This record gives sequence, structure tokens and C-alpha cells, in this order.
Amino acid sequence: MKNILVTGGAGYIGSMTVKQLQENGLNPTVFDNLVYGHKESIAATLIQGDLATDKDKLEQVFKDTKFDAVIHFAGYAATGESMKNPYKYFYYNYVGGLNLAETMVRYGVRHIVFSSSCTVYGNVGKLPVGEDSPIDIVNVYGQTKYDFEKILDWYDQIYQIKSVRLRYFNACGAALDGSMGEDHNPEAHIIPNAIKAALSSIPFSLFGDDYPTKDGTCIRDYIHVLDLAQAHLKALDYLEKGGKTDYFNIGVGKGYSNKEVLEMVKKVSGKDLSVEVKPRRSGDANEIYADNTKAKKVLGWNPEHSDLETIVKSAYLWHSTHPNGYLSS
Ligand SMILES: NC(=O)c1ccc[n+]([C@@H]2O[C@H](COP(=O)([O-])OP(=O)(O)OC[C@H]3O[C@@H](n4cnc5c(N)ncnc54)[C@H](O)[C@@H]3O)[C@@H](O)[C@H]2O)c1
Repeated sequence: MKNILVTGGAGYIGSMTVKQLQENGLNPTVFDNLVYGHKESIAATLIQGDLATDKDKLEQVFKDTKFDAVIHFAGYAATGESMKNPYKYFYYNYVGGLNLAETMVRYGVRHIVFSSSCTVYGNVGKLPVGEDSPIDIVNVYGQTKYDFEKILDWYDQIYQIKSVRLRYFNACGAALDGSMGEDHNPEAHIIPNAIKAALSSIPFSLFGDDYPTKDGTCIRDYIHVLDLAQAHLKALDYLEKGGKTDYFNIGVGKGYSNKEVLEMVKKVSGKDLSVEVKPRRSGDANEIYADNTKAKKVLGWNPEHSDLETIVKSAYLWHSTHPNGYLSS
């Protein structure tokens, strides 16, 4: 059985991927500092440690198990926070990634799949966004993602570590049976926040309704977390078959406006939503959605659950049955 180290595997996307790895006969070991992760979300070996500050623990994990590949989710991921606390993002995302890459070199692990982000495209010109679109770094978080992609290029050139960098669009949705889902605190994403608003009397804050889009609200590409997790399995397979270091957009290839998302939450929940329109947030692009042709063609990946209704239904099932996330009994 293949051993896969999953950093950040107790987080939202990581835990879904761990489950899919297990369902496909692979043996994941999770390394997570549990700052945002939940040990209840996984049924796999978990080592609680921080990639940046617990180098000895990380070393021990590689000593104990011979890994065939690494999937690197661990990192801080809030765009807004990265502009208020850049040190946290530069320190943990760079040092954590570097410690991981160095340990891989020492233990001869040659394959890594890295969670990158569509945020590296910044203020997009042409839509849909292909992998050849210009890079436009508009926040510290995006800088750390892009720089680690570049660091991985050097680790390929110098140490022949092959990497797949998956540039995710907006991860969303939950396990279809509602047993696993998004449990971020604080939560910055529209779908969980709109559902939480529908389930309570708290108004939903809509940041800007005067964008130059069809209904004045931002347009995003929403990719179901199950499809996202599947992309990691495809990427591992690609590397195992000798695939070269490369990067891929992981999005569904279609955009929905914030208002369309809110309408879907109303439809699925059967509840009205009180919406407070607030000023635009700085750094929010008007419209972005992926050209996912490359991932489909090269990785053989195909999103299956990423229509908006399935996304919102699964997320609604999770949130309505888990008001306190993984701590709900
Ligand atoms: N959620 C999205 O829409 C999205 C979009 C693009 C990219 N990404 C990237 O995907 C990855 C996973 O995102 P997520 O939404 O599952 O986030 P998450 O916060 O739920 O998961 C990240 C996990 O990493 C752990 N972690 C963070 N820093 C660590 C460190 N230094 N050492 C060990 N563990 C650490 C956290 O405790 C958490 O469990 C992140 O790298 C994020 O930047 C996410």
C-alpha cells in the first residue's frame, strides 16, 4: 500500500482528500498543527505538529514511514488576514514549505502535490483564466503561493523533486451525506456564511453590489470539495506515471455571481435571507472563472459534483446537522 504524507490533512480540503485516499487503498499520514484543523474530521494517523516550528517532529515522521508522495495543504489561507499580518503568512508558509521540501530531499521522497490558488492571477484580464494568463500578485497570501511554486521549480532542477501545483478556485460544498464539511473559524467564504445566515437571524454581509458584472456582484468559480479532492488523486497518479513538474487550474469553468449563490441558498434552505450590502472589500476581483481544459486533458480529471445546487445542498446538509461543526455531537 502506498504511503502518502498529507500536511494540513485535518483541514477542510485535506480531510476530504484523506478520506478519498483511504477509499482508494492508499495509506495517508496527516501532519497538522490543528490550529484550524479538526482531529474529528479524519480516521487516519495524525501527528500534531507545525511544519515551521516542529522540525524534529517532521523529521521523525519521515524516519518512521517511507513515503511515496506528499500532498501539501498546510498553510495559512486568508487573503484579508495576510494583508494585516504579513509576517504570519511569510513565516509559516515559506518556512513550513521549505522544511517540508528539505526533509523530502533527505528522505528521498520525490513527488509532491501542492495547494496553490487562483489568487495568483489577481485582477484577471481575459476570461476564462487559463494557466498561461499573466500572474498578478495582489496580496501576501498569493505571493506565498506563487513563490512556493517557484521554490518547487528549483527543487526539481536541483533535486529532481517533481511537483504538481493545483491552483484551486473556490472550494465549497460538503460530503454528500452531510457527514463532513467546512468548519472554519472565522469563516470568510460566501456559501457557509450565507447558510449560517439562513439558519439564524443574523444578516448576511454582501460586500459590494456595484461591480461591472451582470447583476453588480462578484462572479466566482465554485468547485465542489469532492471534485477538488479527486484532483489530488489524479495528480498523484500523474506523478507516479512519470509526469513532469507542472501546474493546473482546478475549477469548474463557470462563474456564478454572489446574488446567484444567495438565491440558491434561499431555494435550498427554503428560508429567506436578510442581506446587508456593505462597501466593496479591497482586492476582490470583479469576475474570475477557470479554463480547466489542461487538468481535464493531462490529469484526466473531471468535476462531477460542481453544479451550484449540489454544492449548496451538500453544504446545507452539513451546516444544518452540525451547528457547531465537528464538535456537534
Ligand atoms: N479553501 C479554498 O477555497 C482554497 C482555495 C485556494 C487554495 N487553498 C489552499 O488549500 C489549502 C487547504 O485549504 P483549506 O480551505 O482546507 O484550509 P484549512 O485551514 O481548513 O486547512 C489547512 C490546514 O493546515 C493546517 N496548518 C496550517 N498551517 C500549518 C503549519 N504551519 N503546520 C502544520 N499544519 C498547518 C491547519 O491547521 C489546517 O488544518 C491551503 O493551503 C489553502 O491556501 C484553499
